[in-house]
Amino acid sequence: MTIEFADRIGRIPSYPVASGYDLGDGVAMLASNESCLAPLPEVVEAAQRALRGANRYPDPSYGALRRALSDRYGVPPGRIALGNGSCDILLAAGEALLEPGAEVLYGWPAFTVYPHLAAASGARAVEVALDAAERHDLDAIADEITVATRLVLICNPNNPTSTSLGLDAIEPFLNRVPSHVCVILDEAYVEYSLSLGDTYASVELLRRYPNLVLLRTFSKVYGLAGLRVGYALCASEDFRIAVDQVRQPFHCNVAAQAAAVEALRHQDEVERRVVETIAARLALEQGVRELGLWVAASDANFIWVRLPDGSVEGEVVDGLATRGVLVRAGASLGRDRALRVTVGTPAENARFAAALGEVV
Ligand SMILES: Cc1ncc(COP(=O)(O)O)c(C=O)c1O
Repeated sequence: MTIEFADRIGRIPSYPVASGYDLGDGVAMLASNESCLAPLPEVVEAAQRALRGANRYPDPSYGALRRALSDRYGVPPGRIALGNGSCDILLAAGEALLEPGAEVLYGWPAFTVYPHLAAASGARAVEVALDAAERHDLDAIADEITVATRLVLICNPNNPTSTSLGLDAIEPFLNRVPSHVCVILDEAYVEYSLSLGDTYASVELLRRYPNLVLLRTFSKVYGLAGLRVGYALCASEDFRIAVDQVRQPFHCNVAAQAAAVEALRHQDEVERRVVETIAARLALEQGVRELGLWVAASDANFIWVRLPDGSVEGEVVDGLATRGVLVRAGASLGRDRALRVTVGTPAENARFAAALGEVV
């Protein structure tokens, strides 16, 4: 006899996990859009101090971190949700908002976790193709809203295609979404975005759109992917209450909370890292273009490269891996014959450019 699982287990797609985490420093890990820069020593020390009290459960009200985020963004603590990574909040949103008969709407390809929401809840996923420049087609997305729509996900900048839309495009779109439909702007890469201006600009929208949620993370520019801490700035407290209702009480551990609070105190370093990453990204894009390949207009810490017609994506990815460079195959992210490449250290970027030149 084998164990009998719930029907939805057969429907939920497996997340395309990256490999190479056991290979040590010898490989360039450019497959998961992490920061190549380690957390600041002060942040590591804050996490270490918190571990001394790890015999206690984490503060279930997450007081210090919610206050720190509230001070920074001017959003009351009651409208800030925290999670074990922003993914945790995303999945909780699916559970809180979706059910059979409901619809969730998003552009595609986008973050590979989005299809999970419909599969897990029994809702219908409506995926809308990106435009020719690999950006969200917001008019086409708005055209798909029906009476069944409960949730719209806009990944901006978009993973995996790296493109973004400015608020001059986002705001008219929000005007078209009925106010009972929740819109999550997934801003995991917002700190790198030049088109969004700064990390405060979209926060202003929360005043005008009661159905809006901004989903953000400490996993990217703050360099804390391994600790798992993300947050959502919500226009209404109802969203925060609902996503807390469907999760265990302790979804953000003591070390993660302490590290995130400390990381927020070092914005000068965050800005320095953004400038460094953007400079490296421009060089990476230039190298790819010099090989005659198309690369999307990136507004994030990664690039999206189209491989030439006739090339076999798997062979390119394997060829790069043989040369010690791990990147993400487009096919695993919703688009065949493409590569998603994270900006790494200067040495890693140079290694990628040289390897790509040999392989393509
Ligand atoms: C667009 C997007 N949203 C959310 C996440 C989840 O990030 P985390 O759970 O680490 O906060 C990612 C991670 O890569 C992402 O690319």
